Amino acid sequence: MTTLIKNGILITAYNEHKGDVLIDGEKIVSIEAESKALADVIIDASGKYVMPGGVDPHTHFSALCNVGNQDTAGYETTDAVVVGGTTTIVDYAPQDIGKGLLDSIKYRINVRAKDSCVDYALHAMITDVMDSIFDEIQELPRIGVTSIKCFMAYNGSPLHVDDGTLYKVLQKSKEYGITVFVHAENGEIIHTLQQDCVKMGDLHPRYHAVSRPAFVETEATRRAIYLAQIADTPIYIVHVTCKGAADAIKEAKCRGQKVMGETCTQYLTLDRSYLEQKDIREAAKYICSPALRDLKEVDALWDALNERTLNAVVSDHCGIGMNIKQYGLDNFTNIANGAPGAADRINMLWTEGVTKGRISKQTFVQIISTNPAKINGIYPQKGHIDIGSDADIMILDPSYKGTVRLADNPNGVDYNLYEGKELNGRVDTVLLRGKVVVEKAKFIGEFGQGRFVHSNSFGAAYHGLDDIK
Ligand code: URP
Ligand code: ZN
Ligand code: ZN
Repeated sequence: MTTLIKNGILITAYNEHKGDVLIDGEKIVSIEAESKALADVIIDASGKYVMPGGVDPHTHFSALCNVGNQDTAGYETTDAVVVGGTTTIVDYAPQDIGKGLLDSIKYRINVRAKDSCVDYALHAMITDVMDSIFDEIQELPRIGVTSIKCFMAYNGSPLHVDDGTLYKVLQKSKEYGITVFVHAENGEIIHTLQQDCVKMGDLHPRYHAVSRPAFVETEATRRAIYLAQIADTPIYIVHVTCKGAADAIKEAKCRGQKVMGETCTQYLTLDRSYLEQKDIREAAKYICSPALRDLKEVDALWDALNERTLNAVVSDHCGIGMNIKQYGLDNFTNIANGAPGAADRINMLWTEGVTKGRISKQTFVQIISTNPAKINGIYPQKGHIDIGSDADIMILDPSYKGTVRLADNPNGVDYNLYEGKELNGRVDTVLLRGKVVVEKAKFIGEFGQGRFVHSNSFGAAYHGLDDIK
């Protein structure tokens, strides 16, 4: 089947021009200013922007929460992600209890992700440090996984990885072209500060931010970067939230170290006041780690994106409904960390970033699609509109005016962090490998349409992010 997207303005990470995109089957086969091609399906994109489908490289579907024994919402909720303009996620594949890295990944592909609506690559993720995982690391590229996540935070939970393990993972990963991703927060200091809060009876969710100050993130970021420098291997810092951590990345980049970093929609568009709401149930929704910050840190993150210190904006999506959050309402240390957001990442970033003049349209495409595809070794199959790339395309209507409403795009949990926020522009059509799966901002695809995508080794270090100016 052939499809022609006509009359739209094509925006890529590199440029912007009028362009008609012809698709044959799953691939883009031509791009012309005015195509005369005949096609089975014609999509008129007049007055709209045609961009590569989003790549969200930080999601947690069907994954154990950091407290309790409940899982986040599963892949059957990824229809909302596609409606939000994202066509590929790179989801974390935590070790299942008693299983190794490889078995957990295979189980995810064969069982957990069978309903996925979105294409997905995977990051390996250590949650049970046993000797065998160091031998498994070398096998990861063979099964299409070229990144591994370590949590420096969450002491006391199986997610935590100590410095010795992190260093060993960095050394092993280097040998096999695997990029190490770290959640950089000093878990020991957080634990101490949490205990102090509990002793004082300071149990409201606002103390989540008090017990996770920015310096614990800055310190761990500097430590992780230093260990990667000693191991002489690339490192990627997930969910950066403060100037201190961004400065550490910037300094490392300036001295030539291969360091990459991301921030999340929530750290760019929300602030600490959401945790300070009197209503504990409301405040609990905003417990994610690192914690939401003051406005001066929010501004610093936008600057870090513009100066290319940070390379991507991700959702860190965790489908944790109030049924799970409620277990910790009497003590913030027992509230599961994480918040939903994969469905809102692109629309929120368009309104808050592009329409408010904080980032250019090219930067927008870079940070929500092209850079994540490069970093994760799936570019140019994903993250670009070009001949030979997968026909993963989102069409955004810049004239749309409305507000975020959970009812418009149910995300699998019973709230939306951005409820009521203004939207100026919205994704209205999405194609996944040539097939229209979202029309008029409604999902019309099939559950199970998503496919596993193989990643290549040392994504960014191999492809180089420097060619994007
Ligand atoms: O609070 C968060 N971000 N939870 C999800 C796990 C993680 O730390 O990435
Ligand atoms: Zn994290
Ligand atoms: Zn995360």
